[in-house]
Amino acid sequence: MAGAGLRNMCQLKKNALVTKPTNITFEAAAAVPMSAVTALQAIQDKGQIQSNQKVLIHGASGGVGSWAVQIGKSFGAHVTAVCSTRNVEMARVLGADEVIDYRKEDFSKNGKRYDLIIGANGDVPLAKYKSALTANGIYVCTGGSMKQIFGSMIFGGKQARSLTSAPNKKDLLFLQALLANGKIKSVIDKIYPLHELADAFRYFEAGKVKGKVVISH
Ligand SMILES: NC(=O)c1ccc[n+]([C@@H]2O[C@H](COP(=O)([O-])OP(=O)(O)OC[C@H]3O[C@@H](n4cnc5c(N)ncnc54)[C@H](OP(=O)(O)O)[C@@H]3O)[C@@H](O)[C@H]2O)c1
Repeated sequence: MAGAGLRNMCQLKKNALVTKPTNITFEAAAAVPMSAVTALQAIQDKGQIQSNQKVLIHGASGGVGSWAVQIGKSFGAHVTAVCSTRNVEMARVLGADEVIDYRKEDFSKNGKRYDLIIGANGDVPLAKYKSALTANGIYVCTGGSMKQIFGSMIFGGKQARSLTSAPNKKDLLFLQALLANGKIKSVIDKIYPLHELADAFRYFEAGKVKGKVVISH
């Protein structure tokens, strides 16, 4: 599995390269490096997760969020997933303890507080995330709208952190072990052949991908 963002696609770095677990397909492995490493670094490095903590994943059905739910569970956290109605069942299958359908309920208005919030997608005001944190809680912004990302960087304060992920061997080996044990798995919405690359990007840009879109040969 290679930690390949666009920049790395032409130049594999040996410090971001590990073997594919034998129990998963190449397509499943292709879905791992960027998104799962982002989820792991958000939860472990920036989020400093502890077992039994309450974690909220906003954008839980996308590429980063679907990993974040599973990785949060693997650390022994109590995970609440936020997604739209059509993805509620998927979030449950991924292991979320609670699922909030953002079309029906506002996570910041139900009185619950979280030790860690991962903002993987959407355009939620920073103040809303902060209002749902415990006193020592941490909000980690991994994605969403540009306003969301830059707002967290500039106005975040000590409770908010933003992440620019960088795949490395240590994290890929950590994920490799979880995949090999079947504790986490790739969620693949569609696999496109290389000659349909443009269609794949069109589908991705529509913003409704469940997990990942993979390009195969
Ligand atoms: N920080 C980093 O280093 C890093 C690395 C990778 C990606 N990213 C960024 O992380 C973000 C998410 O990436 P991704 O691959 O997870 O995206 P994605 O796969 O495109 O996410 C699609 C999912 O987002 C959900 N979504 C769309 N609009 C939403 C909204 N308004 N509120 C809540 N959820 C919404 C959709 O679920 P529903 O249909 O259920 O709403 C869909 O399942 C992007 O902004 C990406 O650029 C950052």
